[in-house]
Amino acid sequence: MRNAFCVIIEKCRTFVGKTQLSMKPQNPFPTLEYISPVYFCDREAELVQLIDSIDNQRNITIISPRRLGKTALIRHCFHQLKNRKDLSLHYFDIYATRNLHEFINLLSSSLIGYFESKPEKMLAQLVKMLGQFRPKLSFDELSGAPAVELSLQSDSEKEQSLAAIFNYLSKQKQRVVIAIDEFQQITNYPEQNVEALLRSHIQSNPNVTMIFSGSNRRMLVSLFSEYARPFYQSSGFLFLDKIDPELYKVFIASHFKKAGRKIAEEALGFILDWAQGHTYFVQEICNRLYASGLAAIGIPEVKQVTFQILEERAPLYHVFQNMLTASQYALLKAIAHETSIEKHTASSFLTRHKLGAASTVARSLEALETKDLILFENNSYSLSDIFLMRWLQRQ
Ligand SMILES: Nc1ncnc2c1ncn2[C@@H]1O[C@H](COP(=O)(O)OP(=O)(O)OP(=O)(O)O)[C@@H](O)[C@H]1O
Ligand SMILES: [Mg+2]
Repeated sequence: MRNAFCVIIEKCRTFVGKTQLSMKPQNPFPTLEYISPVYFCDREAELVQLIDSIDNQRNITIISPRRLGKTALIRHCFHQLKNRKDLSLHYFDIYATRNLHEFINLLSSSLIGYFESKPEKMLAQLVKMLGQFRPKLSFDELSGAPAVELSLQSDSEKEQSLAAIFNYLSKQKQRVVIAIDEFQQITNYPEQNVEALLRSHIQSNPNVTMIFSGSNRRMLVSLFSEYARPFYQSSGFLFLDKIDPELYKVFIASHFKKAGRKIAEEALGFILDWAQGHTYFVQEICNRLYASGLAAIGIPEVKQVTFQILEERAPLYHVFQNMLTASQYALLKAIAHETSIEKHTASSFLTRHKLGAASTVARSLEALETKDLILFENNSYSLSDIFLMRWLQRQ
């Protein structure tokens, strides 16, 4: 067993060594993952709110539309707290889990490597905590992160394993912070009692503070604010908004300046406006502008990049035309042209876009929302993909 561990750990070292050798300078506008505070814009008030919740043992739920920066904010917060000896910080994303068993595997995987870094001790810890559930330990080929798989046959085994994990956490000297990303996923599990089960462990464990996060606002708000549900009032909320455009402009300009390059004020205004200040879409444009290597960037260069992005995505967007009914597609296009709409049944809107009966539009609206193509925020509907919106506007 020991030899197998050594081989795997050696493989990871070799992998990291190789990537470091061939690494290009960092593009300061990541579009996938959080890197470090240098590449992270603002969110100072949100950071204070998160740390305050952690320090005062209050659970908190972060909610925002997709790709606005929830995961990056949690990562940023954990990065800021990484030297706090009194805290142990754990993050896991349950988007891909389909049931309680997979949830428990992921939870134990995210905890197991933390308290012991030596493989032998890690194994001993695992056996002590979850030995009765015949755990199998493996390591991710690329990241080296440990993964635990438990053999859980019955519902009572699932409940017992969860109890064993929380019992183990309650005995830690450090306070435990667990961030569960895409938390609404638990409402899709086939097991009936997941909410109640989790709630009871979280409630009875003052040593554990939870950060929940997700983009399905309706689902998450009802999870925590409906009287009859187990999680009722067990968490505060952080509704994440767009980054202040003025701060975003300063942030973008500073990264170009650092590289000895210049981006014009009007170009910054154009980006923020075109991408509607939505984090991911702003990042994607800036990433490409930075990659272009141009020394001076004005509006024509930004337009060129936005044109390229839409061209690249066109094949994907054409698929929507076949995927949606004619009335759904017409409605999507109409909302894109208006940027956002408040009253979808207003007769002026229906006639302007030749959408037909209000009842058909209401059904199409529901279908588009279910498919996550549009979202309802601040009393109006808009497209969730800004690039798709800009592409439809050009059709
Ligand atoms: N404050 C920020 N400054 C700079 N980049 C950011 C900031 N917040 C997020 N990003 C970047 O924007 C992209 C989208 O952010 P992130 O994945 O955190 O969004 P999300 O809300 O978790 O999305 P999803 O709902 O799809 O999970 C990432 O590349 C991330 O690094
Ligand atoms: Mg996320």
